Amino acid sequence: MSNQPLFPKDFLWGGAVAACQVEGAYNKDGKGLSTADVIAHGMMNDPTDPIDPNTFYPYHEAIDFYHRYKDDIKLFKEMGFKAFRTSIAWSRIFPHGDDARPNEAGLKFYDDLFDELIKHDIEPVITITHFETPLSLAHKYGGWADRRLIEYYTRFVRTIFERYKGKVKYWMTFNEINIILHIPFTGGALTVKKGEAGYEQALYSAMHHQFVASATAVKLGHEIMGKDAMIGCMIAFGPTYPETSNPLDALKMQEHMRNTTTFSDVQVRGAYPEHYLRELEKKGIKLPIEAGDLEVIKAHTVDFIGFSYYSSHTVSHKGGGEEQSNFFKNTVKNPYLSPVDESAKEWSWPVDPIGLRYSLHYLQDRYNKPLFIVENGLGAKDVIAEDGKIHDDYRITYLKRHLQEVAIAIDEGVNLLGYTSWGPIDLVSAGTSQMSKRYGYIYVDRDDHGNGTLKRTPKESFYWYQAVIKSNGAHL
Ligand code: BG6
Repeated sequence: MSNQPLFPKDFLWGGAVAACQVEGAYNKDGKGLSTADVIAHGMMNDPTDPIDPNTFYPYHEAIDFYHRYKDDIKLFKEMGFKAFRTSIAWSRIFPHGDDARPNEAGLKFYDDLFDELIKHDIEPVITITHFETPLSLAHKYGGWADRRLIEYYTRFVRTIFERYKGKVKYWMTFNEINIILHIPFTGGALTVKKGEAGYEQALYSAMHHQFVASATAVKLGHEIMGKDAMIGCMIAFGPTYPETSNPLDALKMQEHMRNTTTFSDVQVRGAYPEHYLRELEKKGIKLPIEAGDLEVIKAHTVDFIGFSYYSSHTVSHKGGGEEQSNFFKNTVKNPYLSPVDESAKEWSWPVDPIGLRYSLHYLQDRYNKPLFIVENGLGAKDVIAEDGKIHDDYRITYLKRHLQEVAIAIDEGVNLLGYTSWGPIDLVSAGTSQMSKRYGYIYVDRDDHGNGTLKRTPKESFYWYQAVIKSNGAHL
């Protein structure tokens, strides 16, 4: 696309992964078990704990990034990456979460990883924790429902900020913090099960504790790394549309949207919205607010808004409808959106590139803070053709259409720091623990059962993204 407006000069093009979905080496160099380590194949949020020797746990080896990161970073560099988003496996640093001292081998691994990125002029963008918590914190305390998790998280945060200051500028406190209410074991190490007494209360207690922890991290970040450190939130974002112009649908849309904006409001505006407090009160939920909590949340709002975007949601006041998404239930079909490509049908979600432009404007209008698209992409089945290549034109089409909308939004005035597409190298899916749901520009030879050589092969999209970055988005 030749007439595209150019992206900003220092735009952070790159890709994003999470430690548990790529690293493997789950029990190496002093690492403790994490909640991800007890997720068996296809069992999101539902642990098989203790580890059963006859069960396959895809995260244990993942794509062995732990041992192969140098070669993988070379490939990222070849694509022209300016940024790489990953997370720190908390249980590499504090194996049980509440240990008094950090594990030096774990700290050293991230030192080496960040040095390698910096050596290649790739900016590390670090999620402090992404869908994994030291398992021991689940066993001992029931996860984030317990207030003591704030203290242990803060200890972890202080340790990594002190260690990596000068190497890492961009941080995000919790991956998709709004997902805690939907996948509480994965999002917050919660052990109480749906249907058990106190389940709902535990969810909201965990949410509040994470908000306090997140604001405390922003505070510490600026104290330790100075005012230039950029500490952001990370929200799973997708706009909600009303099914019709019926005002009742508009109200339903507003209500649905608030599932997400409450989480960004607390972290960006620094306070719980009044409607949310009233809603919780009506539900009989009591937020475990202690002295000083609301002040910390108010005083330490985030520096930027990181968000993932995969699709939009459409709702009707009539409720129900076809379920389109795991995370946000009760949505209806949107006749204006096309389904994903055949290769991605198994995990189908409606394709809505304009929804990304809408999201950028929506977030900028609401918060007026720098934005960062830290996830976007297409999980699809890739086939190795007879010529040995992977012709993933469906992925190129998907990404291209989204980036074209991003370019328009930038041209219309949106302040966007960067774009890190999800899974630049194939990785273990968080939703299904599959390898066959592939997002990468780089193919990894490994199947859903752990077979394969782990060999890396660039796909057609690799060269497409390389050209996009080289032209700073002019050649989309
Ligand atoms: C996001 C998560 O929700 O979506 C990632 O932050 C996840 O961890 C990504 O992998 C894609 O979802 P999935 O289920 O296809 O892996």
